[in-house]
Amino acid sequence: MNEKIAVIGGGQMGSQIAALAAMAGYKTNIYDENKENLEYRYKFVEENIKNLIDKKIYTEDNLVSYKENLDLNYSLEDVIEGKTFVIEAVVERFDVKLEIFNQISQSMNQEVVMATNSSFIQASEISKHCDHPERFINMHFFYPPIRMDLIEISYPSNVSKEVLERTKTVSENMGRSVVVLKKETPGFIVNRMLAALVDEAYELYDEGIADFEDIDLAIKKGLNHPLGPFELSDYSGLDIHYYAKLKKFEESGDPKDEPKKFLKEKVMNGDLGVKSGKGFYEYKED
Ligand SMILES: NC(=O)c1ccc[n+]([C@@H]2O[C@H](COP(=O)([O-])OP(=O)(O)OC[C@H]3O[C@@H](n4cnc5c(N)ncnc54)[C@H](O)[C@@H]3O)[C@@H](O)[C@H]2O)c1
Repeated sequence: MNEKIAVIGGGQMGSQIAALAAMAGYKTNIYDENKENLEYRYKFVEENIKNLIDKKIYTEDNLVSYKENLDLNYSLEDVIEGKTFVIEAVVERFDVKLEIFNQISQSMNQEVVMATNSSFIQASEISKHCDHPERFINMHFFYPPIRMDLIEISYPSNVSKEVLERTKTVSENMGRSVVVLKKETPGFIVNRMLAALVDEAYELYDEGIADFEDIDLAIKKGLNHPLGPFELSDYSGLDIHYYAKLKKFEESGDPKDEPKKFLKEKVMNGDLGVKSGKGFYEYKED
């Protein structure tokens, strides 16, 4: 099937997911409620692709596909018009995602795949409140999507087989390695493993055992990880860690799941990591 793809949310993930789709040859449209951010990210990804051409990771043809196949939209209605495959990548908030999927599942035809790139929210949590629950699926990319070669797919037990097959096809055509989970689980494989590491790093920092820079250094040198847990948090976005933890705490009521005070303060101050210029570390503009 020659999918026509809509990406909803043009932040650090959505902008690059749209690029992957366009470079794979799919006619793709992207929408973000923040027009300036959408346009900034479009240019930013274009520059990224140019750099990656110099490094022989992409070709001039990929850049042409990016420009020819990707269009920006400024409303939700416009971006879904005539599409067969939706990938949602808005902020990691259940209420925001639910509102979007509620609206689009009512207005789109029954052939449409509705995929979410959420890091922790399972498709079944959203689909049970929407029309056509059998069309919902998790399609979990990694930051930065144009560099990271993995998509984790997981699906509610009532998913249509055809939705799963089409999601695998799109993922493979984007040139990504694909892992399909047998059961839904918040955080999938990678984030569940990573959460254990980051939680323990936050705990060490909170207990005053070491500075966050030293915890990062210890993990990089001692475990040979390319990034420490605090650097990684900054790259993925502190809001993502915060809201994921908050969701877990609201569900479990267990005090050990409560987001750390220092994390909450940073998120409330708008210090979200690389994307805002400051998180645990400070970042200069690109
Ligand atoms: N950052 C990561 O490492 C990573 C990895 C995998 C998955 N994810 C998931 O991807 C999603 C997006 O994360 P991100 O890192 O790109 O965040 P981001 O903050 O860079 O982008 C989120 C975008 O959503 C837009 N938005 C918010 N509400 C909207 C609405 N109602 N309609 C349209 N646009 C809206 C914002 O304007 C913003 O541009 C989250 O669900 C996150 O869990 C993130």
